[in-house]
Amino acid sequence: MNGCQAQSERAVPVVTVDGPAASGKGTLAAGLAQALGFHLLDSGVFYRMLGWKALQSGVGLERVVALVNLAAELTPQFRGEEIWLDGENISLSLRRQEVGTAASKVAVLPEVRLALLRLQRLARRLPGLVADGRDMGTVVFPDATCKFFLTASVETRAERRHKQLIEKGLSSTISLLLQEISERDARDESREAAPLKPAADALIIDTTLIAAADVLALALRHCRQCLA
Ligand code: DC
Repeated sequence: MNGCQAQSERAVPVVTVDGPAASGKGTLAAGLAQALGFHLLDSGVFYRMLGWKALQSGVGLERVVALVNLAAELTPQFRGEEIWLDGENISLSLRRQEVGTAASKVAVLPEVRLALLRLQRLARRLPGLVADGRDMGTVVFPDATCKFFLTASVETRAERRHKQLIEKGLSSTISLLLQEISERDARDESREAAPLKPAADALIIDTTLIAAADVLALALRHCRQCLA
């Protein structure tokens, strides 16, 4: 498929960017949102917030009812780049590797995914939305106007994530990252509820050997065709 859908029946256009951890989807989604003047949804943040809250409150990552209750209570505030929850700026904490792992574990549960669905769809507002995640094009916004799926080798992704963490002043080792990313990929791809996979109508881009600016230029050309 060509990654475009007829736009006429949808009032608020959505562009979806899905892919595994550190495939470059966050960078691409932010670049597209800025270039198009659209809102930006980083859906992983909701799973990370829930993982963070569960770790904070000692709720086991398999306790479905308790997790759904925690999800229902999430009232995040987005202040520019900062994410606040329960009166605390948790932006940096959300990026910690153990919070990513907790997010991936709670994301396996269909009841949790359902509880977070409404919060994600609330982000669909004019003039449009760029949504980044694992199931944006398959489950959350299946009627999106334009869909991308990014991939990259696991080694490249571990190196990119390492750089990001070091730049943020967080500790990181490549070998541990390689292991954690591989485990996270396996869990995200093999879960029954909304597994990580490209939508049938997504344009797949392997970013292993392509610079971020070139990925953005390619995707933007494609988006402009879809949105025209
Ligand atoms: O994109 P991220 O690394 O912030 O996502 C953290 C975890 O959240 C990821 O391993 C799986 C889960 N997730 C998901 O299941 N569906 C999404 N749309 C986004 C994230």
